[in-house]
Amino acid sequence: MSEKKENKQEKIISLAKRRGFVFPSSEIYGGLSAIYDYGHYGVLLKNNIRDAWWKAMVQERLDIVGLDSAIFMHPTTWVASGHVGGFNDPQVDCKKCKSRFRADHILEDFGISADKAPLEEINDHLEKLKKEGKLKCSVCGSDDLTKAKVFSLMVKSNIGSPTDELKEENVVYLRPETCGGIYLEYKNTVDSLRIKLPFGIAQIGKAFRNEIVARQFIFRTREFEQMEMQYFLHPSMMKEKYEMWKDIRWRWYLEYGIKQNEIRWYKHEKLAHYASEAYDIEFNFKSLGGFKEVEGIHARGNWDLSQHSKFSGVDLSYFDEKSGERFIPHIMETSVGLNRLVLMFLDQAYTEEKAPTANGKEEIRTVLKLDKRLSPVKVAILPLSKKEELTRPAKKIYQDLREFFMAEYDETQSIGKRYRRQDEIGTPYCVTVDFETLNDEAVTIRDRDTMEQERIKIQELKKYLEEKLK
Ligand code: GAP
Repeated sequence: MSEKKENKQEKIISLAKRRGFVFPSSEIYGGLSAIYDYGHYGVLLKNNIRDAWWKAMVQERLDIVGLDSAIFMHPTTWVASGHVGGFNDPQVDCKKCKSRFRADHILEDFGISADKAPLEEINDHLEKLKKEGKLKCSVCGSDDLTKAKVFSLMVKSNIGSPTDELKEENVVYLRPETCGGIYLEYKNTVDSLRIKLPFGIAQIGKAFRNEIVARQFIFRTREFEQMEMQYFLHPSMMKEKYEMWKDIRWRWYLEYGIKQNEIRWYKHEKLAHYASEAYDIEFNFKSLGGFKEVEGIHARGNWDLSQHSKFSGVDLSYFDEKSGERFIPHIMETSVGLNRLVLMFLDQAYTEEKAPTANGKEEIRTVLKLDKRLSPVKVAILPLSKKEELTRPAKKIYQDLREFFMAEYDETQSIGKRYRRQDEIGTPYCVTVDFETLNDEAVTIRDRDTMEQERIKIQELKKYLEEKLK
């Protein structure tokens, strides 16, 4: 890892922990690899991103409906989808330190693209690098690495009575992607909502993959959340709708403050056999050293519904009353990882800049320049002193505002330290209650990004914030 990227990653991980965004899971027991917990500000940020996606994908659309399907599904689901047989990654182990790597990621570091490549091809590349003396374990430096072998990403569990625990028929999988639930509820959705093609079903929820992971914080984890939308259509519409959704999704990133030059398209050349087109939106993660996938937009043909129809024996075809045609709908999918978006927004928002101190000197302040709609807390109320004559009106302002905005009240430490703390969690506005307030019924409001301060009448605060936070 380059020093710069390491530095940025460490800073984000440190801020995330120090300020209560993200904690390594089960830390008191030594942690659990590639699993994370979200603290107060992390949940608020994640929920705001989730709501922004849902607003764009469901609330503002006539042609999309929501779903929340179960994590456990009938085991045949994953046989039909091909996951049980083929959802694998190529794995390489270091015989000396027992570290585990993804072989395609090792090859990527040498500029060799091995995405979905057959195992023999991957092993040929590895063998060549080994002969050239270039293949070394990135953890301990040993050149004693195993050949690549396939490793299933499916996470197993079991349901049923405890005595049945070991029976193979009780094995169920934790879903590796949320879209499986959408395919199984396609028929119920059409029947109950009487919705006509083309239409989409959107869902947000947890997914689980037994990932082989290496130091990427919340970018790639074993438990994560996906936000997926499956758009069902007649195949003749695929091209038009695919372009439409590419455009909609691209603009969503710009709408929430991601800079145009920080995202790009990646076109998949090697496609799954059922897919006709697949593009990723990649974001330039400074903390990961470059552009990496955040969202996939896939034209999946009619593979999913055909497979589930075949394996379940249930007819999943659609009858178009206008044309009199009966067919299995094709699917256009948008699929994005919520946790990956949390990292993307933190990565872009994290800023260190010079700022004046109270006594006229200069210091470096760390500030999360998040889009205000995504900020965990919208406004912090800070009385200048702990004296009751100030804390009483400050608490009253807090109580009035919290009805409408995620607000915080803080009377501890110096005002400078309290500003820095709010800067680090990305709070766009700080309201200071001072002795003048007792005379003029007004407060000082400080803007996170410009640090400029304005005097506002208490009565006008709510309206002011509503305008600014739109
Ligand atoms: N239904 C299609 C599908 O699941 P994918 O490319 O495997 O496609 C879609 O995943 C998105 O889910 C990715 O672009 C990424 O944002 C997120 N994702 C996938 N695996 C992840 C993991 N292990 N940790 C965090 N996010 C993940």
